[in-house]
Amino acid sequence: MVHKFDPKNKEKLDNEWRRENLPPVEILKELGLKATDSVADIGCGIGYFTIPAAALIGSNTVYGLDTSPEMLAELELRSKAAGLNNIETVKTQELDLIIPDATVSFGLMVNVIHEIVDKTQFLEESSRIIKPGGKLAIIDWEKAETKTGPPIDHRIGSDEVKTMLNEIGFVCQETMNFAETFYGLVFLKHN
Ligand SMILES: C[S@@+](CC[C@H](N)C(=O)[O-])C[C@H]1O[C@@H](n2cnc3c(N)ncnc32)[C@H](O)[C@@H]1O
Repeated sequence: MVHKFDPKNKEKLDNEWRRENLPPVEILKELGLKATDSVADIGCGIGYFTIPAAALIGSNTVYGLDTSPEMLAELELRSKAAGLNNIETVKTQELDLIIPDATVSFGLMVNVIHEIVDKTQFLEESSRIIKPGGKLAIIDWEKAETKTGPPIDHRIGSDEVKTMLNEIGFVCQETMNFAETFYGLVFLKHN
């Protein structure tokens, strides 16, 4: 079962609880984002991670990819307010990320995979846009009862994500946990 985040609740993507439990700059550094990376924030929402990623990498491009025009419009406003000119927003389709093959060295997917019905196809499509030797970092809700977040049967466990990505040519390099609520996985894409 999946449940899509309602764009009407977009303000919930940036609040005090999130900043405390998922501090974006610290987390991007922990995931291994480098100044030389080009980034696709897959399911970027209002840009909670897109904007700090763009500030961290400086001149390379961060692609903010999302199926929701409302989310992308908010990201564009926030990007302008932050004075950033290295964010490109792209309105995507459910299983089509639109940008060309091997565009980025770092794919980021935060609290998105549990919303996808055809997870294998979505991960294959995410792989398509990442360069060989590039990385994919995934953060999502632990499949356990937590104070906040979607019902447990809407979540996907980290082991299942690892199995799916192993099958399409990724190796898990790091497993992390944030606030006992989210897992973080960093995968390397084979050459
Ligand atoms: C819970 S929000 C997380 C947003 C952002 N990653 C963050 O952590 O703040 C999930 C986002 O994924 C987007 N989304 C859902 N299905 C998608 C798909 N198939 N392709 C791209 N984006 C998708 C939604 O529109 C929404 O903006």
